[in-house]
Amino acid sequence: MATAEQLKTLVRSHASGDMNQFYSVALQVAARAARNGHNKLAQDLRDLVDEAKAKSENPRSRSLRPVPATQPRGELAGLLAVSYPHERLSDLAVETEVLQRVERALAEQHQADRLREHGYHPQHRLLLIGAPGTGKTMTSRVLAGELRLPLFMIRLEVLITKFMGETAAKLRLIFDAVEETRGVYLFDEVDALAGDRSAANDVGEVRRVLNSFLQFLDPHGSRSVIVATSNHPQILDRAMFRRFDSVIEYPLPSPEIAREVMRHRLAAVNITELCWTDVDQAAKGLSHADLTLACEHAAKEAILSEKDRVTTAMLKAALRERQHVWPCA
Ligand SMILES: Nc1ncnc2c1ncn2[C@@H]1O[C@H](COP(=O)(O)OP(=O)(O)OP(=O)(O)O)[C@@H](O)[C@H]1O
Ligand SMILES: [Mg+2]
Repeated sequence: MATAEQLKTLVRSHASGDMNQFYSVALQVAARAARNGHNKLAQDLRDLVDEAKAKSENPRSRSLRPVPATQPRGELAGLLAVSYPHERLSDLAVETEVLQRVERALAEQHQADRLREHGYHPQHRLLLIGAPGTGKTMTSRVLAGELRLPLFMIRLEVLITKFMGETAAKLRLIFDAVEETRGVYLFDEVDALAGDRSAANDVGEVRRVLNSFLQFLDPHGSRSVIVATSNHPQILDRAMFRRFDSVIEYPLPSPEIAREVMRHRLAAVNITELCWTDVDQAAKGLSHADLTLACEHAAKEAILSEKDRVTTAMLKAALRERQHVWPCA
């Protein structure tokens, strides 16, 4: 139950409109209830706070979020690129299994304090592998958008080429930031950093860097989320896989998912005349990214022709063009 002081603070903060304090005290009351075994009450309180927060935050206020004081400075400025993505889980068109894994990681992050109270650590290290253009990088934006955290992209090419010889030291700087500033940290195309340690073309520097990376990944306590992506999982060192709480594989889209991607990207134009069976055929083997680009192309063509209507022939032609861009598909 709430203490007398908490009740007074609740009323005071509500009266003065200090919603941050109001929610924070409500969550303290929930934590106290959980400690006393009133789990249902604790969960109900947390849900009420989440609901109230979601309602009070409209998309406009999200987009006007001020640039926080967490801009990387000094040496870090060249190594990390920060952004504040707005993508949500509903923007991601993926198979149920992938969706469930991402949802699970989010649920653990949302309820991190609760898990910690019971001595468990929330998932915070995710390895996303799979074909190009299937949503791996996008997932890191979705995680940041859903958790309302900044996304820090690690500039691996700068790290490796510019700082050859001192890469491991720079990596330490990055992992210090991971501990200091809560965020989603993306090591995109991590194979550049984490190739097989026994590979024939290996050099001492690469091995040293990979060893440091694996060591930095070890601690469990971090409040940040670390995401690594690769479309060459076969060249990743096996030790990498053990370091991640979840390894999620992104397949090319099934026909159902392909349609979902296309419908989403064509939402602004008229598609009532489309023959989906024909379109499905032309879309076969294309990645989410290719489907998105083809749909954008067809939609723009429709707008420029001032009919705002995408025909089957227009969309098929755009899809066929993408098939040629990616000959292996
Ligand atoms: N699963 C998806 N759902 C919806 N849109 C997607 C999805 N995957 C990709 N896209 C679209 O394609 C764009 C590029 O995708 P993304 O960069 O996430 O692919 P990737 O898997 O990281 O590819 P790569 O391995 O080449 O880096 C996204 O910005 C988005 O517009
Ligand atoms: Mg990517």
